Amino acid sequence: MDHKKGKPVSASMVIDQVIEVFPNDLNAHGTLFGGRALQIIDNLAAIVAKRHTGMVCVTLGIDSVRFLNPSYHGDILVCKASINRTWRTSMEVGVKVLAEDFRTLAQKHILSAYFTFVPIDENHKPVQVNPVIPETPDQFRRYEEAERRRQHRLSAIRKQPEK
Ligand SMILES: CC(C)(COP(=O)(O)OP(=O)(O)OC[C@H]1O[C@@H](n2cnc3c(N)ncnc32)[C@H](O)[C@@H]1OP(=O)(O)O)[C@@H](O)C(=O)NCCC(=O)NCCS
Repeated sequence: MDHKKGKPVSASMVIDQVIEVFPNDLNAHGTLFGGRALQIIDNLAAIVAKRHTGMVCVTLGIDSVRFLNPSYHGDILVCKASINRTWRTSMEVGVKVLAEDFRTLAQKHILSAYFTFVPIDENHKPVQVNPVIPETPDQFRRYEEAERRRQHRLSAIRKQPEK
């Protein structure tokens, strides 16, 4: 594979990472603690970014986080993560988490988020990212949608008042 021309989404994606919800993952109400869920998905998304680039990658931002349903002790979290699009030195990784009831195997969508990662060199400076190559209809759709989200993020920076 010629990585100078890019890497397919499938080379770095996580398809169904399973994690059990333990008692120490819960909040005071007995459901999965949001901060713990964010830790899990940040780790997962960072692994996808590292696999794609072969570099240390830092999280620049997380957006569109939605906690859609609660999850409970004993649930199996089924996590999916893949690169949606790359630009010059940044990339978007999308993550989706389902909670599976181990008794019934019923799944519900509990969380989705988009991460922006930047690979860095030993001086902590951003470096160029290999292009990502979408191959399936869903990957092409995410690729297109990611550009709109990036424009939105960048326009939000431009709207910030000067200090
Ligand atoms: C990430 C970091 C290295 C970027 O450094 P920087 O000097 O701001 O770099 P740049 O301005 O060149 O921006 C780097 C990329 O981020 C993009 N970017 C910057 N702000 C952005 C935003 N709000 N949304 C989306 N992309 C953004 C830039 O467009 C550029 O991408 P591109 O080359 O693909 O266009 C630096 O901000 C940093 O170290 N942040 C802390 C990271 C961290 O500690 N994370 C938590 C632990 S992992």
